[in-house]
Amino acid sequence: MPSKNELSPEIIEKIQLLQEKYSSVGQDLASYLDGLLYADFLTYWDYINLDTLLTLQQPKTPFPDEEIFIIYHQITELYFKLSLNEFGRLRTASKEGPITPEFLLERVKRVNRYFEALTNSFDIMVDGMDQKEFLQFRMSLLPASGFQSGQYRKIEICSTSLDQIVHKDLRDKYDNHGVADIETLAEHLYWREGAIEIKTGKKTLTLRQFEDKYDAEFLQLARDVFDCNVRKVANGLEYSSENEHLKDEIAAAMRWLDVNVNINWPLMHYKSAVRYLQKDVEDIAATGGTNWQKYLPPRFQKRIFYPELWTEEEIENWGKGWVKREVFNIHE
Ligand code: HEM
Repeated sequence: MPSKNELSPEIIEKIQLLQEKYSSVGQDLASYLDGLLYADFLTYWDYINLDTLLTLQQPKTPFPDEEIFIIYHQITELYFKLSLNEFGRLRTASKEGPITPEFLLERVKRVNRYFEALTNSFDIMVDGMDQKEFLQFRMSLLPASGFQSGQYRKIEICSTSLDQIVHKDLRDKYDNHGVADIETLAEHLYWREGAIEIKTGKKTLTLRQFEDKYDAEFLQLARDVFDCNVRKVANGLEYSSENEHLKDEIAAAMRWLDVNVNINWPLMHYKSAVRYLQKDVEDIAATGGTNWQKYLPPRFQKRIFYPELWTEEEIENWGKGWVKREVFNIHE
């Protein structure tokens, strides 16, 4: 046994490995060891940037519940970021060679987990704020809206081919589109018609701000993932006799992703809009005057990433059972 200050053979071996590592890139190990000698030990709060994180909540009004609203949006955006990280890994891997069924399955399962966490926590919004306070502070936040979440739109772009997220009347027309058509399709993404003023039929300021900030990014992303969005990758997977059994598991995970992103999350979100805003026409002003009752419920827009995985009947009834059960409390 070496004494307390003697170097053990394992440590000597590690130093030799480090020496090789550093000299292979022309660096001097001794200088790096010097740095190590003076470096502070890492703390939890520095590692996760806690102090900065806790400065990122800056309410615009004195109503205490506004902070709940801010923090829950921030939490959601972080889960969106985790989801986009997984789609990013798909993109990186697709440059290196064909994607394996195992790899795709893992990515989709992770995104499903993030969305389940969001759906299961949405009651923090639905029940967790005072309605009167909400309607007061919400007015101070106009024209900002969660509608302007760029990450939410990016998740859609990465999940499926662009023809599935254009306005529903155009989906058949653009089925089988090529990269050259992306710019045209991007003009018809479904949400562009979701932020139209009821009175004038014009684009809301909310939408115009959003387009100015993100349109170029969305276009680039749509081009980048043309060949490696989840739908395209799944359709091009090659199975062997060893992983043939994953076919059903992947289809099930993708159906679940469709339900999570296009039914469960939107409906929990819709439930909060109903709780706070469904009073009378004046309250609609709190959203910038959009016709959200006709826009938000999944049964109207039928956003479906993977129509090939659903029966006609399932598509026909998209989102309906949930609305009856959860929003209107009708059990049949
Ligand atoms: C009390 C809570 C909430 C209410 C009352 C509410 C209300 C609304 C309304 C009325 C719209 C329609 C567009 C508009 O008129 O501005 C909308 C859209 C949207 N909100 Fe919220 N929202 C809430 C919480 C959230 C949260 C926590 C997020 C998370 C990021 C979020 C993200 C979105 C997104 C992504 C859209 C666009 C949905 C789509 O295009 O289908 N909202 N929200």
